[in-house]
Amino acid sequence: MLDRLEPQSPDALLALIKLHAADEREDKIDLGVGVYRTDDGATPVFKSIKAAEEALIGEQQSKSYLGPEGDLGFVHSLMPYIFGKDATMGGRIEGMQTPGGTGAVRLAAAVAKHAGATRIHMGTPSWPNHAQIFRDLDLEVAAFDHANADGTANLEAVLEAIRGAGENEAVLLHGCCHNPTGIDYTPAQWVEIAEALAESPALPILDVAYHGLGHGLEQDAYGVRRVLNAVDEALIAYSCDKNFGMYRDRVGALYVMAKNSSGLDPILSNLNALARASWSMPPDHGGAAVRLVLRDDTRRQQWLDELESMRNRLRWVRERLAAADNQVSGLDLAPLAEQNGMFAMLKLDKDQIARLREEHAVYMAGSGRINVAGLTKGNIDKFIAALADVAG
Ligand code: LMR
Repeated sequence: MLDRLEPQSPDALLALIKLHAADEREDKIDLGVGVYRTDDGATPVFKSIKAAEEALIGEQQSKSYLGPEGDLGFVHSLMPYIFGKDATMGGRIEGMQTPGGTGAVRLAAAVAKHAGATRIHMGTPSWPNHAQIFRDLDLEVAAFDHANADGTANLEAVLEAIRGAGENEAVLLHGCCHNPTGIDYTPAQWVEIAEALAESPALPILDVAYHGLGHGLEQDAYGVRRVLNAVDEALIAYSCDKNFGMYRDRVGALYVMAKNSSGLDPILSNLNALARASWSMPPDHGGAAVRLVLRDDTRRQQWLDELESMRNRLRWVRERLAAADNQVSGLDLAPLAEQNGMFAMLKLDKDQIARLREEHAVYMAGSGRINVAGLTKGNIDKFIAALADVAG
């Protein structure tokens, strides 16, 4: 039976990790997969997480099963940061732990499908795995343009998609730090998006994978909160990969906001059943460590400081690239200073991207996406010179 399977090409982004690792040039630059790097090019475990892990080893008495919902202490500890002071919206929001943000997106799409969804509208470009997950669940993907050529968000396109979306349809929106463009909706645009969603029968699915890496935890939650205040129900996928540095520990959560508190239980029972049928229960360690960060004042403050320094560094790289706009013709680097998070799209074609790799040892996604966190004080000048070479 299995020899009927068609070979699949490896995930392009993950393949890039191996390609970069095999390159022996010492001055190689990795701008591929989205992991944060310090100015030394390292991706260390957060100090706050290390401290929490040490505490966890001391206090954990059992590794017995928790259930499909995972560590609810972790799930609930995150909620005020995402949803604000009234973190349950009057008892209308509850969540469960998932294996990473990917697990949360997958569960969101699966429960939407179980509720009758047939199609998901999403701005493109998007994280390539979004469309892959939706198609794997036999959900049709309806694409609209996320960005304008000038590096701003295309408000008309998203509003048109929302207004055109029917019953049995969902709309996927990135909460902040858009992947791959870095182009977020402005607060004024979120107001219009929320109003359009309030009038629409479509289900909003909000993907929040970079919370705190744009302008701060509060500002980055603006769009999510605005939408939740306007609509009856929504799904919110959350990742701790980047803002707690938990990548391989797979720490995420899926939240649901129901029309009213009594509507939550049937939805949660479906989420539990779907989780049980897929991964049964999420891995515990990372979620427990995040809980121990958020529930201890010292560790929590340490995490907030670590997040702030990441944000400041990303801002520095963006400003440095934007300032190099006149050194590199045709790429329009100036808008990068206004964009957010770890990613930016450069207007490079396939040949230019290949030349960057072959001639300059610069590794980036074939789409033109760069992980700005891969740039440091030590390599950014070389990168700008390489861009000027291939783009000029
Ligand atoms: C990325 O877009 O690079 C990250 O979200 C990692 C991933 O899983 O693709």
